[in-house]
Amino acid sequence: MQCDTLWIDARLATMANVGAVAGVGAIDRGMIAATDGRIVFAGPVADAPFFDAANVVKCDGRWITPGLIDCHTHLVHGGDRSAEFELRLAGASYEEIARAGGGIVSTMEATRAAGEDSLVQSALPRLDALIGEGATTVEVKSGYGLTLAHEIKMLRAARQLGSVRPVGIVTTFLGAHALPPEYRDDPDGYITAVCEQMIPAIASAGLADAVDAFCDGIGFTAAQTRRVFEAATAHGLRVKLHAEQLSNLHGAALAAEFGARSADHLEYLDDDGIHAMAAAGTVATLLPGAYYFVRENRLPPITLLRAAGVPIALATDCNPGTSPLTSLLLTMNMAATLFHMTVDECLTGVTRNAATALGLGHEIGTLEPGKSCDLAIWDIERPAELVYRMGFNPLHARIWRGQ
Ligand code: NIG
Ligand code: FE
Repeated sequence: MQCDTLWIDARLATMANVGAVAGVGAIDRGMIAATDGRIVFAGPVADAPFFDAANVVKCDGRWITPGLIDCHTHLVHGGDRSAEFELRLAGASYEEIARAGGGIVSTMEATRAAGEDSLVQSALPRLDALIGEGATTVEVKSGYGLTLAHEIKMLRAARQLGSVRPVGIVTTFLGAHALPPEYRDDPDGYITAVCEQMIPAIASAGLADAVDAFCDGIGFTAAQTRRVFEAATAHGLRVKLHAEQLSNLHGAALAAEFGARSADHLEYLDDDGIHAMAAAGTVATLLPGAYYFVRENRLPPITLLRAAGVPIALATDCNPGTSPLTSLLLTMNMAATLFHMTVDECLTGVTRNAATALGLGHEIGTLEPGKSCDLAIWDIERPAELVYRMGFNPLHARIWRGQ
C-alpha cells in the first residue's frame, strides 16, 4: 500500500478504546501511516499491511498520543489583569472586583481599544505556548468585545490565528459573557441585541462554530441564557455554557435541554444537572486552572459525573482574569492533584473527550484510521509522565494534518 508518511518503532496511546473503563489504548510496538493528512493505519506493527512510504520517521520507542486539544479558551483578548491579581492577593475576591467594574469589563476595554491585527499578535505567544506542548486544536471564544463590531473583530482575529500557525482553530461566540456598561440598567436589552443582531450576523458570516454564555450571578440569568440558546439554535449553531462556576443557576440542565456539546466549570453542579447532562450526552469540561487561580474550594462533583458516565474533558480556560494558563500538561497535573482524576482520565480529557466537546469526535482526538493525522510525539517512558511533571515539557515533535 502507498502512503505519504510512516512513523515506526513507536509506542502508541491511541485513546481509541471504547467501553466503560477509560484507558489510553496502549500499543507497545506500534506504527502510524498517513496519506493526505489522514491516518490510514494506527496499530501494532504485527497487524500492519506492507506500506510503501515516501517518508519514514523512526521514533526510537517514543510515545505518540493524539495531538492535544484545548476545548475552552479565551485566548484572544487585549491587556492583562496582573493588577487585579495583586488586588486579589491583598484580599479582594474575583466577584468583588467584577462588581466594582473590573474583571471581564476591564478586559473588554482593552480589547475594544485593540485592532484585529494587534489581537492576533498578542494572542500568538499564548497560542505558541500551547502548540509547543503538542496542542493541535484550540477553541477560542469571543466575549470581550460586547458589541457586534468588536465581537466580529475578536472572532476574525481568532480565525486568523489558524492561518498564521499550523493548528486547528474552533471559534465560539460568547456575546453573553458580561453586561457591557452601555446596558448597565438593561440586561434584557443587551440579550435582545445578542439574539437579534449579533447571532444572526455572526452566523451568516460563518464566524462562529458554536455559541456560549456565562450563566451566573455576575453573568446572565437562566431565562436570559435560554433566549441566547433559542437564537443560536434558530440560526443552526450548537451551544455550550459556562455553568455552575460560582453559584448554581441550573445552567447545566438548561444546556443539556438544548443538546449542548459541553457545560463547563461545574463546581456547583447538582444531581439534576448531572443526570440531564448524561441523558443529553453533554460533555463536562472541567477547568482546574480557574479553580486553582481563584482559590475555589468547592470541587466539581467528579465521582458523580464518573458514576453517571458523563464524559469529562479538561481545558486551560486561558483568560486574563481567572486562568492565565497556557499549558495543557499543567492542566492535567492540576486535574489529577486537585480533582483526583486518574492519568487515563486526564489524557482522555485533553484528547478524545475534548474532541467530543467541540463536536469533532469524528475528526480528531484518537489515533484511528480516517482521522486527521494530528500527533504529539513524546520523550517519555510512560504516559503517566505527561500528567506527573510540573513545568516540564517532554514534547519531541508535533504533527498537524500529517505535517
Ligand atoms: O471562564 N466565567 C467567565 N469567564 C471566564 C473569566 C473571564 C474573565 O475573568 O475575564 C472564565 O472563568
Ligand atoms: Fe471560560
